[in-house]
Amino acid sequence: MLMHVFLFLGALSCYIFIKRNRRDTSKLPPGSLGWPYIGETLQLYSQDPNVFFAKKQKRYGEIFKTHILGCPSIMLASPEAARFVLVNQAHLFKPTYPKSKENLIGPLALFFHQGEYHTRLRKLVQGSLSLDNLRRLVPDIEAIAVSALDSWAAGHVINTFHEMKKLSFEVGILAIFGHLEATQKEQLKENYSILDKGYNSFPTKLPGTPYKKAFLARKRLQEILKEIISERREKRVTEKDLLGSLLNSKDEKGGVLSEDQIADNIIGVLFAAQDTTASALTWILKYLHDHQKLLDTVKAEQKVIYESNDNGNLHLTWAQTRNMPITYKVIMESLRMASIISFTFREAVTDVKYKGYLIPKGWKVMPLFRNIHHNPEFFPNPQEFDPSRFEVAPKPNTFMPFGSGVHACPGNELAKLEMLIMVHHLVTRYRWEVEGSESGIQYGPFPIPMHGFPARFHKESVEEKRRICGAS
Ligand code: HEM
Repeated sequence: MLMHVFLFLGALSCYIFIKRNRRDTSKLPPGSLGWPYIGETLQLYSQDPNVFFAKKQKRYGEIFKTHILGCPSIMLASPEAARFVLVNQAHLFKPTYPKSKENLIGPLALFFHQGEYHTRLRKLVQGSLSLDNLRRLVPDIEAIAVSALDSWAAGHVINTFHEMKKLSFEVGILAIFGHLEATQKEQLKENYSILDKGYNSFPTKLPGTPYKKAFLARKRLQEILKEIISERREKRVTEKDLLGSLLNSKDEKGGVLSEDQIADNIIGVLFAAQDTTASALTWILKYLHDHQKLLDTVKAEQKVIYESNDNGNLHLTWAQTRNMPITYKVIMESLRMASIISFTFREAVTDVKYKGYLIPKGWKVMPLFRNIHHNPEFFPNPQEFDPSRFEVAPKPNTFMPFGSGVHACPGNELAKLEMLIMVHHLVTRYRWEVEGSESGIQYGPFPIPMHGFPARFHKESVEEKRRICGAS
Protein backbone atom coordinates (compact mmCIF):
# COMPACT_ATOMS: atom_id res chain seq x y z
CA MET A 1 0.00 0.00 0.00
CA LEU A 2 2.75 2.39 1.11
CA MET A 3 4.62 1.50 -2.08
CA HIS A 4 1.64 2.56 -4.19
CA VAL A 5 1.40 5.87 -2.38
CA PHE A 6 5.10 6.51 -3.10
CA LEU A 7 4.68 5.59 -6.75
CA PHE A 8 1.66 7.83 -7.06
CA LEU A 9 3.44 10.77 -5.39
CA GLY A 10 6.52 10.21 -7.56
CA ALA A 11 4.45 10.17 -10.76
CA LEU A 12 2.54 13.26 -9.62
CA SER A 13 5.69 15.29 -8.95
CA CYS A 14 7.15 14.24 -12.32
CA TYR A 15 3.90 15.27 -14.00
CA ILE A 16 3.93 18.67 -12.28
CA PHE A 17 7.60 19.16 -13.19
CA ILE A 18 7.05 18.23 -16.84
CA LYS A 19 3.90 20.33 -17.04
CA ARG A 20 5.72 23.30 -15.61
CA ASN A 21 8.62 22.86 -17.98
CA ARG A 22 6.25 22.46 -20.92
CA ARG A 23 4.74 25.81 -20.02
CA ASP A 24 8.21 27.34 -19.99
CA THR A 25 9.87 25.56 -22.92
CA SER A 26 8.85 28.03 -25.62
CA LYS A 27 10.47 30.93 -23.76
CA LEU A 28 13.64 29.16 -22.74
CA PRO A 29 16.90 30.16 -24.46
CA PRO A 30 18.06 27.93 -27.35
CA GLY A 31 20.29 24.94 -26.63
CA SER A 32 19.90 21.29 -25.77
CA LEU A 33 19.33 19.52 -22.47
CA GLY A 34 20.94 16.25 -23.61
CA TRP A 35 20.01 12.87 -22.15
CA PRO A 36 17.53 12.41 -19.32
CA TYR A 37 19.25 12.75 -15.90
CA ILE A 38 22.84 13.00 -17.16
CA GLY A 39 22.10 15.86 -19.55
CA GLU A 40 25.31 16.93 -21.29
CA THR A 41 27.67 16.25 -18.39
CA LEU A 42 29.57 13.58 -20.35
CA GLN A 43 30.10 15.91 -23.31
CA LEU A 44 31.39 18.56 -20.91
CA TYR A 45 33.88 16.23 -19.22
CA SER A 46 34.99 14.27 -22.28
CA GLN A 47 36.61 17.37 -23.78
CA ASP A 48 38.23 20.61 -22.73
CA PRO A 49 35.33 22.43 -20.98
CA ASN A 50 36.28 25.61 -22.81
CA VAL A 51 35.80 23.88 -26.16
CA PHE A 52 32.38 22.66 -24.96
CA PHE A 53 31.28 26.20 -24.08
CA ALA A 54 32.83 27.79 -27.17
CA LYS A 55 31.09 25.29 -29.49
CA LYS A 56 27.77 25.96 -27.80
CA GLN A 57 28.21 29.69 -28.08
CA LYS A 58 29.03 29.39 -31.77
CA ARG A 59 25.92 27.32 -32.37
CA TYR A 60 23.35 29.04 -30.16
CA GLY A 61 24.68 32.53 -29.47
CA GLU A 62 25.44 34.31 -26.22
CA ILE A 63 22.68 32.80 -24.12
CA PHE A 64 21.91 29.10 -24.25
CA LYS A 65 20.59 26.30 -22.10
CA THR A 66 22.18 22.97 -21.22
CA HIS A 67 21.92 20.35 -18.48
CA ILE A 68 25.09 19.59 -16.55
CA LEU A 69 26.00 18.02 -13.21
CA GLY A 70 22.37 17.12 -12.60
CA CYS A 71 21.08 20.67 -13.09
CA PRO A 72 19.27 22.44 -15.91
CA SER A 73 21.47 25.47 -16.57
CA ILE A 74 21.59 28.64 -18.57
CA MET A 75 24.94 29.88 -19.82
CA LEU A 76 25.59 33.54 -20.43
CA ALA A 77 28.48 34.60 -22.62
CA SER A 78 27.85 38.32 -23.08
CA PRO A 79 29.13 41.16 -20.86
CA GLU A 80 25.59 42.58 -20.48
CA ALA A 81 24.18 39.23 -19.37
CA ALA A 82 27.02 38.72 -16.86
CA ARG A 83 26.34 42.20 -15.48
CA PHE A 84 22.62 41.47 -15.28
CA VAL A 85 23.20 38.38 -13.12
CA LEU A 86 26.17 39.51 -11.04
CA VAL A 87 25.49 43.21 -10.58
CA ASN A 88 22.16 44.74 -11.64
CA GLN A 89 19.83 41.91 -10.61
CA ALA A 90 22.19 40.09 -8.23
CA HIS A 91 19.40 39.74 -5.65
CA LEU A 92 17.52 37.42 -8.04
CA PHE A 93 20.42 34.96 -8.20
CA LYS A 94 21.91 33.25 -5.19
CA PRO A 95 25.34 31.61 -4.96
CA THR A 96 25.11 27.84 -5.22
CA TYR A 97 27.65 25.14 -4.43
CA PRO A 98 27.26 21.37 -3.94
CA LYS A 99 26.46 20.60 -0.30
CA SER A 100 29.45 18.24 -0.11
CA LYS A 101 31.82 21.12 -0.88
CA GLU A 102 29.99 23.58 1.36
CA ASN A 103 30.43 21.15 4.27
CA LEU A 104 34.19 20.90 3.75
CA ILE A 105 34.77 24.64 3.65
CA GLY A 106 32.13 25.52 6.22
CA PRO A 107 28.53 26.52 5.50
CA LEU A 108 28.93 29.90 7.19
CA ALA A 109 31.66 31.10 4.80
CA LEU A 110 30.60 34.32 3.06
CA PHE A 111 30.51 33.02 -0.50
CA PHE A 112 27.58 30.70 0.22
CA HIS A 113 25.42 33.62 1.39
CA GLN A 114 23.70 36.74 0.21
CA GLY A 115 21.86 39.58 1.96
CA GLU A 116 22.70 41.00 5.38
CA TYR A 117 24.99 38.24 6.63
CA HIS A 118 27.01 38.31 3.41
CA THR A 119 27.32 42.13 3.50
CA ARG A 120 28.57 42.05 7.09
CA LEU A 121 31.20 39.38 6.43
CA ARG A 122 32.23 40.93 3.15
CA LYS A 123 32.93 44.30 4.77
CA LEU A 124 35.18 42.56 7.30
CA VAL A 125 37.11 40.55 4.71
CA GLN A 126 37.42 43.51 2.36
CA GLY A 127 38.49 45.81 5.20
CA SER A 128 41.25 43.44 6.31
CA LEU A 129 42.52 43.31 2.69
CA SER A 130 42.35 47.10 2.14
CA LEU A 131 45.27 48.84 0.41
CA ASP A 132 46.31 50.36 3.74
CA ASN A 133 46.64 46.94 5.32
CA LEU A 134 48.32 45.41 2.28
CA ARG A 135 50.95 48.15 2.30
CA ARG A 136 52.14 46.83 5.64
CA LEU A 137 52.44 43.29 4.29
CA VAL A 138 54.99 44.08 1.56
CA PRO A 139 58.13 43.14 3.57
CA ASP A 140 56.58 39.87 4.77
CA ILE A 141 55.31 38.85 1.33
CA GLU A 142 58.75 39.69 -0.01
CA ALA A 143 60.38 37.45 2.60
CA ILE A 144 58.03 34.59 1.67
CA ALA A 145 58.80 35.02 -2.06
CA VAL A 146 62.58 35.20 -1.54
CA SER A 147 62.63 32.15 0.68
CA ALA A 148 60.50 30.14 -1.79
CA LEU A 149 62.73 31.05 -4.73
CA ASP A 150 65.89 30.20 -2.80
CA SER A 151 64.50 26.79 -1.95
CA TRP A 152 63.73 26.08 -5.62
CA ALA A 153 67.19 26.95 -6.87
CA ALA A 154 68.92 23.83 -5.59
CA GLY A 155 69.13 22.43 -9.12
CA HIS A 156 66.29 19.90 -8.87
CA VAL A 157 63.09 19.90 -10.92
CA ILE A 158 60.12 21.36 -9.12
CA ASN A 159 56.42 21.23 -9.84
CA THR A 160 55.86 24.96 -10.20
CA PHE A 161 52.15 24.84 -9.38
CA HIS A 162 52.70 22.83 -6.19
CA GLU A 163 55.40 25.23 -5.05
CA MET A 164 53.23 28.23 -5.88
CA LYS A 165 50.49 26.67 -3.77
CA LYS A 166 52.85 26.60 -0.79
CA LEU A 167 53.66 30.25 -1.42
CA SER A 168 50.03 31.41 -1.74
CA PHE A 169 49.14 29.41 1.37
CA GLU A 170 51.86 31.25 3.35
CA VAL A 171 50.60 34.60 2.08
CA GLY A 172 47.02 33.60 2.93
CA ILE A 173 48.08 32.71 6.49
CA LEU A 174 49.87 36.05 6.76
CA ALA A 175 46.80 38.03 5.65
CA ILE A 176 44.54 36.09 8.01
CA PHE A 177 46.65 35.77 11.16
CA GLY A 178 49.61 38.08 10.76
CA HIS A 179 52.47 36.19 12.39
CA LEU A 180 51.41 32.76 13.51
CA GLU A 181 53.33 30.44 15.79
CA ALA A 182 55.32 27.86 13.74
CA THR A 183 53.66 24.73 15.22
CA GLN A 184 50.17 26.13 14.69
CA LYS A 185 51.06 27.04 11.11
CA GLU A 186 52.36 23.49 10.53
CA GLN A 187 49.19 21.95 11.96
CA LEU A 188 47.03 24.15 9.75
CA LYS A 189 49.15 23.35 6.71
CA GLU A 190 49.06 19.59 7.29
CA ASN A 191 45.30 19.39 7.81
CA TYR A 192 44.45 21.90 5.13
CA SER A 193 46.39 19.90 2.57
CA ILE A 194 44.32 16.77 3.43
CA LEU A 195 41.16 18.84 3.03
CA ASP A 196 42.45 20.18 -0.28
CA LYS A 197 43.17 16.65 -1.60
CA GLY A 198 39.65 15.46 -0.81
CA TYR A 199 37.81 18.56 -1.96
CA ASN A 200 37.28 17.40 -5.53
CA SER A 201 36.94 13.70 -4.76
CA PHE A 202 33.73 11.69 -4.80
CA PRO A 203 31.73 12.75 -1.73
CA THR A 204 31.33 9.60 0.35
CA LYS A 205 31.82 9.15 4.04
CA LEU A 206 33.22 5.62 3.59
CA PRO A 207 36.31 5.24 5.82
CA GLY A 208 39.65 5.74 4.08
CA THR A 209 38.27 7.68 1.10
CA PRO A 210 39.82 11.07 0.29
CA TYR A 211 36.49 12.77 1.04
CA LYS A 212 36.20 11.17 4.47
CA LYS A 213 39.81 12.05 5.25
CA ALA A 214 39.11 15.64 4.18
CA PHE A 215 36.03 15.69 6.40
CA LEU A 216 38.06 14.55 9.42
CA ALA A 217 40.84 17.05 8.63
CA ARG A 218 38.18 19.80 8.52
CA LYS A 219 37.13 18.84 12.06
CA ARG A 220 40.73 19.04 13.24
CA LEU A 221 41.13 22.42 11.56
CA GLN A 222 38.13 23.63 13.55
CA GLU A 223 39.85 22.61 16.80
CA ILE A 224 43.14 24.27 15.84
CA LEU A 225 41.32 27.45 14.90
CA LYS A 226 39.40 27.44 18.19
CA GLU A 227 42.70 27.29 20.04
CA ILE A 228 44.16 30.18 18.01
CA ILE A 229 40.98 32.21 18.55
CA SER A 230 41.01 31.73 22.31
CA GLU A 231 44.72 32.63 22.52
CA ARG A 232 44.07 35.79 20.53
CA ARG A 233 41.10 36.66 22.75
CA GLU A 234 43.30 36.27 25.85
CA LYS A 235 45.92 38.62 24.44
CA ARG A 236 43.30 41.35 24.08
CA VAL A 237 45.22 43.10 21.32
CA THR A 238 43.40 44.56 18.34
CA GLU A 239 45.14 43.30 15.22
CA LYS A 240 44.25 44.56 11.74
CA ASP A 241 44.49 41.13 10.12
CA LEU A 242 41.39 39.17 9.14
CA LEU A 243 41.19 37.26 12.42
CA GLY A 244 41.39 40.57 14.32
CA SER A 245 38.58 42.05 12.19
CA LEU A 246 36.36 38.99 12.65
CA LEU A 247 36.96 38.90 16.42
CA ASN A 248 36.24 42.60 16.90
CA SER A 249 33.16 42.77 14.74
CA LYS A 250 29.90 43.76 16.44
CA ASP A 251 26.55 44.17 14.70
CA GLU A 252 24.10 47.01 15.55
CA LYS A 253 22.81 45.02 18.50
CA GLY A 254 26.32 44.38 19.78
CA GLY A 255 26.30 40.74 18.63
CA VAL A 256 29.70 39.16 17.97
CA LEU A 257 30.49 36.43 15.46
CA SER A 258 30.44 32.84 16.72
CA GLU A 259 33.55 30.63 16.63
CA ASP A 260 31.96 28.62 13.81
CA GLN A 261 31.32 31.75 11.75
CA ILE A 262 34.92 32.86 12.25
CA ALA A 263 36.40 29.42 11.49
CA ASP A 264 34.30 28.87 8.34
CA ASN A 265 35.30 32.25 6.97
CA ILE A 266 38.98 31.70 7.70
CA ILE A 267 38.95 28.35 5.88
CA GLY A 268 36.90 30.01 3.12
CA VAL A 269 39.44 32.76 2.56
CA LEU A 270 42.36 30.31 2.63
CA PHE A 271 40.54 28.21 0.08
CA ALA A 272 39.70 31.18 -2.18
CA ALA A 273 43.26 32.49 -1.99
CA GLN A 274 45.39 29.41 -2.59
CA ASP A 275 44.80 27.61 -5.91
CA THR A 276 43.64 30.74 -7.73
CA THR A 277 46.80 32.73 -7.04
CA ALA A 278 49.04 29.69 -7.49
CA SER A 279 47.48 28.95 -10.86
CA ALA A 280 47.86 32.59 -11.99
CA LEU A 281 51.52 32.64 -10.92
CA THR A 282 52.23 29.38 -12.74
CA TRP A 283 50.71 30.77 -15.95
CA ILE A 284 52.76 33.97 -15.63
CA LEU A 285 55.95 31.90 -15.48
CA LYS A 286 54.85 29.87 -18.48
CA TYR A 287 53.89 32.89 -20.59
CA LEU A 288 57.13 34.70 -19.74
CA HIS A 289 59.09 31.58 -20.58
CA ASP A 290 57.32 31.24 -23.93
CA HIS A 291 57.80 34.94 -24.82
CA GLN A 292 61.48 35.66 -24.28
CA LYS A 293 61.35 39.18 -25.76
CA LEU A 294 58.62 40.09 -23.37
CA LEU A 295 60.62 38.56 -20.54
CA ASP A 296 63.49 40.88 -21.49
CA THR A 297 61.24 43.94 -21.24
CA VAL A 298 59.93 42.80 -17.86
CA LYS A 299 63.53 42.22 -16.75
CA ALA A 300 64.48 45.71 -17.91
CA GLU A 301 61.62 47.25 -15.93
CA GLN A 302 62.50 45.30 -12.80
CA LYS A 303 66.23 45.93 -13.22
CA VAL A 304 65.69 49.68 -12.71
CA ILE A 305 63.95 48.98 -9.40
CA TYR A 306 66.58 46.39 -8.42
CA GLU A 307 69.37 48.86 -9.03
CA SER A 308 67.63 51.68 -7.20
CA ASN A 309 67.36 49.27 -4.26
CA ASP A 310 71.16 49.02 -4.08
CA ASN A 311 71.20 45.92 -6.30
CA GLY A 312 68.63 44.13 -4.24
CA ASN A 313 70.12 44.97 -0.83
CA LEU A 314 67.17 47.19 0.08
CA HIS A 315 63.60 46.01 0.42
CA LEU A 316 60.95 46.61 -2.21
CA THR A 317 58.65 49.45 -1.24
CA TRP A 318 54.88 49.69 -1.62
CA ALA A 319 55.37 52.65 -3.98
CA GLN A 320 57.63 50.52 -6.21
CA THR A 321 55.02 47.75 -6.38
CA ARG A 322 52.50 50.37 -7.56
CA ASN A 323 54.76 51.44 -10.39
CA MET A 324 55.53 48.35 -12.47
CA PRO A 325 53.41 49.09 -15.58
CA ILE A 326 54.87 46.45 -17.88
CA THR A 327 54.78 43.69 -15.28
CA TYR A 328 51.25 44.73 -14.35
CA LYS A 329 50.09 44.37 -17.96
CA VAL A 330 51.71 40.93 -18.17
CA ILE A 331 49.72 39.93 -15.09
CA MET A 332 46.47 41.27 -16.58
CA GLU A 333 47.08 39.48 -19.88
CA SER A 334 47.92 36.24 -18.05
CA LEU A 335 44.65 36.51 -16.13
CA ARG A 336 42.76 37.06 -19.39
CA MET A 337 44.48 34.27 -21.31
CA ALA A 338 44.27 31.69 -18.55
CA SER A 339 40.85 32.84 -17.22
CA ILE A 340 41.42 30.81 -14.09
CA ILE A 341 37.82 31.13 -12.96
CA SER A 342 36.32 30.23 -16.33
CA PHE A 343 32.76 30.71 -15.10
CA THR A 344 30.76 30.98 -11.93
CA PHE A 345 27.47 29.50 -10.72
CA ARG A 346 24.34 31.19 -9.47
CA GLU A 347 20.78 29.90 -9.02
CA ALA A 348 17.64 31.84 -9.96
CA VAL A 349 15.60 32.43 -6.78
CA THR A 350 12.50 33.21 -8.83
CA ASP A 351 11.44 33.09 -12.50
CA VAL A 352 13.49 35.79 -14.22
CA LYS A 353 13.01 37.36 -17.66
CA TYR A 354 16.10 38.31 -19.63
CA LYS A 355 15.89 39.66 -23.19
CA GLY A 356 12.56 37.90 -23.73
CA TYR A 357 13.86 34.57 -22.43
CA LEU A 358 12.77 32.85 -19.27
CA ILE A 359 15.27 31.78 -16.64
CA PRO A 360 13.12 29.46 -14.52
CA LYS A 361 13.34 29.49 -10.72
CA GLY A 362 15.81 26.88 -9.47
CA TRP A 363 17.84 26.74 -12.69
CA LYS A 364 21.57 27.33 -12.53
CA VAL A 365 22.91 30.39 -14.26
CA MET A 366 26.52 30.54 -15.35
CA PRO A 367 28.24 33.73 -16.53
CA LEU A 368 31.06 32.46 -18.76
CA PHE A 369 34.04 34.72 -18.02
CA ARG A 370 36.37 32.81 -20.29
CA ASN A 371 34.14 33.11 -23.35
CA ILE A 372 33.94 36.86 -22.78
CA HIS A 373 37.73 37.14 -22.27
CA HIS A 374 38.30 35.22 -25.50
CA ASN A 375 35.75 37.01 -27.65
CA PRO A 376 37.61 38.67 -30.60
CA GLU A 377 35.08 41.50 -30.53
CA PHE A 378 36.49 42.64 -27.18
CA PHE A 379 40.03 41.21 -27.38
CA PRO A 380 41.30 41.02 -30.98
CA ASN A 381 43.37 37.88 -31.70
CA PRO A 382 42.33 36.47 -28.36
CA GLN A 383 44.73 33.50 -28.54
CA GLU A 384 47.73 35.79 -28.81
CA PHE A 385 49.54 36.70 -25.57
CA ASP A 386 49.76 40.45 -25.94
CA PRO A 387 50.02 42.52 -22.73
CA SER A 388 50.05 45.72 -24.78
CA ARG A 389 46.31 45.32 -25.31
CA PHE A 390 45.97 46.53 -21.71
CA GLU A 391 47.44 49.92 -22.62
CA VAL A 392 43.81 50.79 -23.24
CA ALA A 393 41.26 49.89 -20.55
CA PRO A 394 39.02 46.98 -21.65
CA LYS A 395 35.39 47.84 -22.46
CA PRO A 396 33.07 47.77 -19.42
CA ASN A 397 32.22 44.26 -18.17
CA THR A 398 34.47 42.51 -20.67
CA PHE A 399 37.33 41.78 -18.25
CA MET A 400 36.30 40.00 -15.06
CA PRO A 401 39.13 37.77 -13.82
CA PHE A 402 38.04 38.61 -10.28
CA GLY A 403 34.32 38.44 -10.97
CA SER A 404 31.95 41.36 -10.63
CA GLY A 405 29.29 42.75 -8.32
CA VAL A 406 28.47 41.82 -4.74
CA HIS A 407 30.59 38.65 -4.75
CA ALA A 408 33.58 40.06 -6.68
CA CYS A 409 36.93 38.98 -5.29
CA PRO A 410 37.93 40.96 -2.17
CA GLY A 411 41.43 39.45 -2.42
CA ASN A 412 42.26 40.83 -5.87
CA GLU A 413 44.70 43.49 -4.66
CA LEU A 414 46.50 41.00 -2.44
CA ALA A 415 46.74 38.53 -5.33
CA LYS A 416 48.16 41.22 -7.64
CA LEU A 417 50.63 42.42 -5.01
CA GLU A 418 51.84 38.86 -4.47
CA MET A 419 52.33 38.38 -8.20
CA LEU A 420 54.20 41.69 -8.65
CA ILE A 421 56.57 40.94 -5.76
CA MET A 422 57.17 37.40 -6.97
CA VAL A 423 57.91 38.49 -10.55
CA HIS A 424 60.32 41.18 -9.31
CA HIS A 425 62.49 38.68 -7.42
CA LEU A 426 62.13 35.99 -10.03
CA VAL A 427 63.31 37.97 -13.04
CA THR A 428 66.03 39.95 -11.26
CA ARG A 429 67.74 37.00 -9.59
CA TYR A 430 66.75 33.76 -11.31
CA ARG A 431 66.30 32.06 -14.64
CA TRP A 432 64.21 28.99 -15.21
CA GLU A 433 63.99 26.26 -17.79
CA VAL A 434 61.11 23.92 -18.47
CA GLU A 435 61.50 20.16 -18.03
CA GLY A 436 59.83 18.04 -20.69
CA SER A 437 58.11 19.23 -23.81
CA GLU A 438 54.51 18.33 -23.12
CA SER A 439 52.28 21.35 -23.50
CA GLY A 440 48.57 21.66 -22.86
CA ILE A 441 46.24 22.46 -20.03
CA GLN A 442 45.25 20.41 -17.02
CA TYR A 443 42.18 21.09 -14.89
CA GLY A 444 42.35 20.58 -11.18
CA PRO A 445 39.69 22.14 -11.36
CA PHE A 446 41.40 25.43 -12.20
CA PRO A 447 43.36 25.40 -15.45
CA ILE A 448 47.11 24.95 -15.00
CA PRO A 449 49.89 24.23 -17.49
CA MET A 450 50.39 20.49 -18.05
CA HIS A 451 51.89 18.60 -15.08
CA GLY A 452 52.03 21.82 -13.05
CA PHE A 453 54.79 23.26 -15.26
CA PRO A 454 57.83 21.27 -14.12
CA ALA A 455 60.88 23.54 -14.17
CA ARG A 456 64.43 23.97 -12.94
CA PHE A 457 65.38 27.27 -11.33
CA HIS A 458 68.90 28.71 -11.21
CA LYS A 459 70.12 31.63 -9.20
CA GLU A 460 71.98 33.93 -11.53
CA SER A 461 75.65 34.32 -10.72
CA VAL A 462 77.07 37.78 -9.99
CA GLU A 463 78.63 37.81 -13.50
CA GLU A 464 75.36 36.91 -15.13
CA LYS A 465 73.56 39.53 -13.07
CA ARG A 466 76.12 42.15 -14.03
CA ARG A 467 75.51 41.32 -17.66
CA ILE A 468 71.73 41.63 -17.21
CA CYS A 469 72.15 44.88 -15.29
CA GLY A 470 74.52 46.13 -17.96
CA ALA A 471 77.18 46.83 -15.31
CA SER A 472 80.08 45.01 -16.94
C1 HEM B 1 44.58 35.32 -9.02
C2 HEM B 1 43.96 35.10 -7.90
C3 HEM B 1 42.47 35.14 -7.71
C4 HEM B 1 41.47 35.04 -8.62
C5 HEM B 1 41.59 34.84 -10.13
C6 HEM B 1 40.21 35.15 -7.90
C7 HEM B 1 38.96 35.14 -8.51
C8 HEM B 1 37.77 35.28 -7.82
C9 HEM B 1 36.48 35.36 -8.44
C10 HEM B 1 36.20 35.28 -9.94
C11 HEM B 1 35.56 35.50 -7.45
C12 HEM B 1 34.05 35.66 -7.63
C13 HEM B 1 33.36 34.33 -7.71
C14 HEM B 1 31.88 34.46 -7.94
O1 HEM B 1 31.37 35.53 -8.28
O2 HEM B 1 31.21 33.44 -7.81
C15 HEM B 1 36.27 35.48 -6.19
C16 HEM B 1 35.66 35.57 -4.96
C17 HEM B 1 36.36 35.56 -3.77
N1 HEM B 1 37.73 35.60 -3.60
FE1 HEM B 1 39.11 35.58 -5.08
N2 HEM B 1 40.49 35.29 -6.57
C18 HEM B 1 41.85 35.32 -6.40
C19 HEM B 1 42.54 35.48 -5.23
C20 HEM B 1 41.96 35.66 -3.98
C21 HEM B 1 42.68 35.92 -2.76
C22 HEM B 1 44.19 36.09 -2.66
C23 HEM B 1 41.74 35.98 -1.76
C24 HEM B 1 41.91 36.25 -0.28
C25 HEM B 1 42.98 36.51 0.36
C26 HEM B 1 40.45 35.76 -2.36
C27 HEM B 1 39.25 35.73 -1.68
C28 HEM B 1 38.01 35.63 -2.26
C29 HEM B 1 36.76 35.57 -1.51
C30 HEM B 1 36.63 35.56 0.01
C31 HEM B 1 35.73 35.53 -2.45
C32 HEM B 1 34.23 35.46 -2.17
C33 HEM B 1 33.64 36.86 -2.12
C34 HEM B 1 32.16 36.93 -1.88
O3 HEM B 1 31.46 35.93 -2.04
O4 HEM B 1 31.70 38.01 -1.51
N3 HEM B 1 40.61 35.58 -3.70
N4 HEM B 1 37.62 35.37 -6.45
